[in-house]
Amino acid sequence: MDGNGRWAKARGLPRIEGHRRGAESVKSLLDAIQNTHVKYVTLYAFSIENWNRPKGEIKALMTLLDYFLTKQLPELIERKIRFRVIGRYAELSPKMQKRLHRAEADTAQFDQSTLALALNYGARTEVTDAVKKMAKDIQEDGVDIDNIDYSFFSRYLYTHELPDPDLVIRTSGEHRLSNFLLLQSAYAEIYFTPVLWPDFGEENFYSALENYASRERRYGRTAEQLQGS
Ligand code: FPP
Repeated sequence: MDGNGRWAKARGLPRIEGHRRGAESVKSLLDAIQNTHVKYVTLYAFSIENWNRPKGEIKALMTLLDYFLTKQLPELIERKIRFRVIGRYAELSPKMQKRLHRAEADTAQFDQSTLALALNYGARTEVTDAVKKMAKDIQEDGVDIDNIDYSFFSRYLYTHELPDPDLVIRTSGEHRLSNFLLLQSAYAEIYFTPVLWPDFGEENFYSALENYASRERRYGRTAEQLQGS
């Protein structure tokens, strides 16, 4: 959800105003998710690296997230959207952890669409955490190392309950993944748009899906092989 700061700066507003407008874009995305029946959407809300931002901005972002979770929980329940969090949960404030747990628990029964929030997330940290957990299990349970494959390893990732993304949308004209779902995006289609996140509305989401529909996904095979199958 990139471009909040630039959106605000262009209007002579404080950065947090951009984040506030960005939260509005999240709300309109809920309509788009339901209209298109997209089953899983993950929003990159706060990266591990975002802790390096000015203290005031971090505090304002956390307050905004807290407010969003409180306000939007009834809406998620009404829309039957399951809520999940990926990231280093334990490093968030106890209050935030409680809110997140509550939102996850209160929406756990829904299975039509899932909204995941990447919070205090970083792909490299995720892989490191997964390796540590897996190594611990191997030590304790004596798993045969030759039997370890990606499918086994991926169960230790924060995303173990989510499928790999088909499409990654990066807003604001930047052309990089910024430590987002690096393993899971191995075969994802990437869509770059110059639109700043606060301006990203339903129509932009539909355009991204349309563009995705025109892609040919080969997973290492040739175009001829795909035509024959
Ligand atoms: C990146 O834009 C955005 C963030 C670090 C925060 C994203 C948070 C929100 C959209 C609001 C809260 C989220 C939810 C789910 C309610 P940037 O600040 O790096 O923009 P810039 O590159 O233009 O400075």
